[in-house]
Amino acid sequence: MTKKVFIRTFGCQMNEYDSEKMADLLHATHHFVRTDSPDNADVVILNTCSVREKAEDKVYSDLGRLNELKRIKPNLIIAVGGCVASQEGETIIERAPYVDVVFGPQTLHRLPDLILAKETTGQSQMDISFPEIEKFDALPTPEAKGPTAYVSIMEGCSKYCTFCVVPYTRGEEFSRPAQDIVNEIEALVDQGVKEITLLGQNVNAWQTLDEAGNDLDFTWLIEQIHHIDQLQRIRFTTSHPLEFSDRLIDAFGRLPKLMNQVHLPVQSGSDKILAQMKRGYTAKQYIEIINKLKQACPSLSISSDFIIGFPGETEEDFQATLDLIDEVQFDGSYAFIYSPRPGTPAAKLVDNVSAEQKKSRLSRLLQKTDSAHINYSQHMVDTVQDVLVDGFSKRDSTQLRGKTSNNRVINFTGHPRLIGQIIPVKISSIAHFSLRGEVVTSS
Ligand code: SAM
Ligand code: F3S
Repeated sequence: MTKKVFIRTFGCQMNEYDSEKMADLLHATHHFVRTDSPDNADVVILNTCSVREKAEDKVYSDLGRLNELKRIKPNLIIAVGGCVASQEGETIIERAPYVDVVFGPQTLHRLPDLILAKETTGQSQMDISFPEIEKFDALPTPEAKGPTAYVSIMEGCSKYCTFCVVPYTRGEEFSRPAQDIVNEIEALVDQGVKEITLLGQNVNAWQTLDEAGNDLDFTWLIEQIHHIDQLQRIRFTTSHPLEFSDRLIDAFGRLPKLMNQVHLPVQSGSDKILAQMKRGYTAKQYIEIINKLKQACPSLSISSDFIIGFPGETEEDFQATLDLIDEVQFDGSYAFIYSPRPGTPAAKLVDNVSAEQKKSRLSRLLQKTDSAHINYSQHMVDTVQDVLVDGFSKRDSTQLRGKTSNNRVINFTGHPRLIGQIIPVKISSIAHFSLRGEVVTSS
């Protein structure tokens, strides 16, 4: 009988990408297929996130439920991967001895061996080391799941922002070789992929050397990818303001496949807080990058991440963040209440912003960013946008779903044969955080 794997993914796109790779790998090695319920799975994997405390707590509550399931199905293999696994290691098996395998973001390629070792020895297995590039070398050829795909171009992060756990859980920045990245994209394009999103914690820190020992940067990598014939759209996430070079800014005006959308986390508009976060830029420098980007590509849609209530954030600091939002007019935002992470420098600071202040600041910020988003949507109404049709609408399976060049989701009526094509769609109205439209037919 075909074995089934259930994977629950927490956190960022990097984790979503890794989960796809785990499924591809278990399919290639043991013909596992994915299931959407743990109840009929032979292996359950929790691919975890430890960026904020809440996500971490969810892992332990999920494990409690899986323990119940294992009582009924004693052969069930429970595996914990991702950043919580990397951070907690042995503690997971101490707290939840029924966990069979613990593996980190850099050792997911060893998952089949770890499962086998558990089955043969009866002992729980753990490997949370950082063997760098070996992970990609050991993965099977990627399988396209639709017209869009993620491709990881680097691992880890060496920025060590004082609040962030990622450098400790995913290791130092490591760029994947250019040829491997191009090969993976070509394999996906051969299967019909039209749009790829290059992934990494700081994609613009990607670097390599040519044969003569000269530096090659992220813009160079985008240029190489741009040459891939059938590929139509390139995006990337996440980028960091510190390495957002003029060359990269110019690429938005010069490379037609590079989409008019960028996610550039600023975190705060206060220079005092930015310095305490060790972000390496000031609010003015961030705005300068944005202004140059808007000059290079006037239709550019910009989104950001914000942390609310970092230790020492006064009302004045928070006001500076609101002022920055007014100035930039972001099209989308993710705002998070600061969560002290064990082992990070900021965790030693006195968390002196009250829970009430944090909540109230979050709602004031969201009011502003939501209204900027709606404003942006309103400007898109009645325009005709190129839309990559990527499947059926999530809420109404009789409708199609696609993405505009600036990464907005749009739902519309159309024939399923349009899936995988880029077609003109006229925006007719706004529906919550998505858009509605009508296919423009040539008469
Ligand atoms: N590489 C990205 C950058 O340049 O900032 C960020 C990656 S981080 C995993 C994703 C987002 O999580 C961050 O931008 C930040 O807003 C948020 N985040 C990270 N650590 C956090 C913490 N301790 N508390 C609250 N939010 C946090
Ligand atoms: Fe985290 Fe800062 Fe890197 S937010 S992922 S340490 S750029």
